[in-house]
Amino acid sequence: MSTPPLLQVEDLTRRFPVAGRRGAELHAVADLSFTLQPGESIGLVGESGCGKSTLVRMLARLLDVTEGRIEFDGKDIGAVPAARFARHPLRGAIQMVFQDPTDSLNPRFTAHDTIEEPLRLLGTLPASARAARVREVAAQVGLPAELLPRLPHQLSGGQKARVGLARALALSPRLLILDEPTAALDVSVQAVVLQLLARLRRELGLAYLFVSHDLNVVRLLTDRVLVMYLGKLVESGPVADVLAQPRHPYTQALVSAIPGRAGERIRLPGEVKSPIDPPRTLCRFHGRCPRGEDRCAREAPPLRQVAPGHWAACHFA
Ligand SMILES: Nc1ncnc2c1ncn2[C@@H]1O[C@H](COP(=O)(O)OP(=O)(O)O)[C@@H](O)[C@H]1O
Ligand code: SF4
Ligand SMILES: [Mg+2]
Repeated sequence: MSTPPLLQVEDLTRRFPVAGRRGAELHAVADLSFTLQPGESIGLVGESGCGKSTLVRMLARLLDVTEGRIEFDGKDIGAVPAARFARHPLRGAIQMVFQDPTDSLNPRFTAHDTIEEPLRLLGTLPASARAARVREVAAQVGLPAELLPRLPHQLSGGQKARVGLARALALSPRLLILDEPTAALDVSVQAVVLQLLARLRRELGLAYLFVSHDLNVVRLLTDRVLVMYLGKLVESGPVADVLAQPRHPYTQALVSAIPGRAGERIRLPGEVKSPIDPPRTLCRFHGRCPRGEDRCAREAPPLRQVAPGHWAACHFA
């Protein structure tokens, strides 16, 4: 593709100090690289604790980077401290939708106040134009105007999700980062919100980075998928290829567990390794990998291209 990427991530790393253990560090995200094109939708999958939220919080500039680069629209935003990004000119272009709409909405703000807040804090519109913009984005997400004066406790789960989405859209972002946006919703409401997300992306030409542990949802909403395991990118590629022919043993296990899929589910032996100071000279999946061989305990596998646009980090992929 010749268009310059919207987002370019290079060797991104985040380590956290470990309380009570001097010098020890938890490696939440390690040397992770990928690019996202304008209007593209990427899914990010992996089990709980593998670093998905840490990664997207760095990309949304809510969390400082330990090492590596984040370029958005050609600008090095990773170097801007998270505490200062709130006033950065690109703040409005990257918006995040959080997992639980109940947790993320201010209980004293009406739906209108919540959606308007980013316009007040960052936008340039006068009050009258702001109110019009609030009604416009509410309509885009299917939130009836008569619900705008309501407080969060007067709204259903699906309505609250729409409020969170309208707020994220208010500043006309180019990238929407969605961290398990439907995980807290009832199944029937989930389906409606997912359809809404698919429609918004088509209509507004948005790029998505979509975190989910549900591969059926990822298939529905994304073009490409990134699979993480213990802070590392272990596989990436077009979503249809990765689901049809997963190359990394971890992805193979994830795909085998998709509900309704033919074939036997692959159960992984052993425990997830500790993310604290992991040895650099072994595969992080070693010990849980059904295939693991001696070499895997001596040598960390690099990402290698296994098919066009499809990469996997396994010695035997
Ligand atoms: N602020 C923090 N301080 C220390 N460790 C953290 C912090 N945030 C996340 N972690 C750790 O980083 C790892 C990745 O967490 P997270 O990014 O939340 O994973 P996921 O979203 O995939 O469940 C976990 O081991 C988690 O305990
Ligand atoms: S490198 Fe070895 S341990 Fe790691 S995923 Fe491949 S086979 Fe399994
Ligand atoms: Mg998370």
